[in-house]
Amino acid sequence: MQRTGKTLGFVPTMGALHEGHLSLVRASKARCDATAVSIFVNPLQFGPSEDLATYPRTLERDSKLLDELGVDLLFVPAAEEMYPAGATTYVLVEELSDKLDGASRPGHFRGVATAVAKLFAIIRPDFAFFGQKDAAQVAVLRKMASDLNLDVELVVCPIVRDADGLALSSRNAYLNPEQRRQALVLHRSLMKVKAAAAAGERDAARLIEIGKQVVAAEPAARLDYFAIVNPETLDPVADISRGALVAVAAFIGTTRLIDNIVLNR
Ligand code: PAJ
Repeated sequence: MQRTGKTLGFVPTMGALHEGHLSLVRASKARCDATAVSIFVNPLQFGPSEDLATYPRTLERDSKLLDELGVDLLFVPAAEEMYPAGATTYVLVEELSDKLDGASRPGHFRGVATAVAKLFAIIRPDFAFFGQKDAAQVAVLRKMASDLNLDVELVVCPIVRDADGLALSSRNAYLNPEQRRQALVLHRSLMKVKAAAAAGERDAARLIEIGKQVVAAEPAARLDYFAIVNPETLDPVADISRGALVAVAAFIGTTRLIDNIVLNR
């Protein structure tokens, strides 16, 4: 919006909005003159055996929430609009896209980067707001914006949690009450690692072992990864003295959940 001298903030989402999404909208409203939100369940970032068909869609409720917050523009493209027949251009952030969630979800970050690049080109925001909840996504999109000289500043906002620590996620809607309780193991494992780090443990392998043991103690959880990495490169670190991202992904039943914390230097 350089032409008008006003700033435009943008919050891309897949809808089924919760307080995590709304915190991004509030951050944009606080920082920018106008705020745009997109809701697009992006087929390109779902694997063939993933939950594209069942992903929660609550557009009426979402648009009411955004109205109440005073969002200026809501963009809800159809899949055929975003990916018209014959489109053959994709955005792939090599290497980073194969790490953490990208390792378990081949093609996922190619889908994310392509959708977000297109949304940036359509909306042309000055600022775009993302959640720390998806830490690997943040790393991929920062690299994309830098590599492609995109004229947009990425703003990362803290993870919003329920009172008991569970990170808010649209996929929490899949959990029955028992599974929701079992899902707390992700946060619990991160807190145990945080406490061990605060008590002086610097060795990443030992911290990972501590985290994995907590997850293993919950039989309903199937661990995908427990990793301690550099938050920019997503490469493993040997020790946490210079700060690190501690990230966990696990299945509770068929629902894949992620969470993370940042250990500061
Ligand atoms: P979605 O999962 O809907 O998330 C939209 C934004 O909300 C992301 O930036 C995500 O990190 C943030 N978010 C989700 N849960 C959060 C929480 N508990 N606290 C803070 N922020 C949270 O991420 C996507 O959609 C898609 O990949 C997208 C970027 C829209 C591209 O399709």
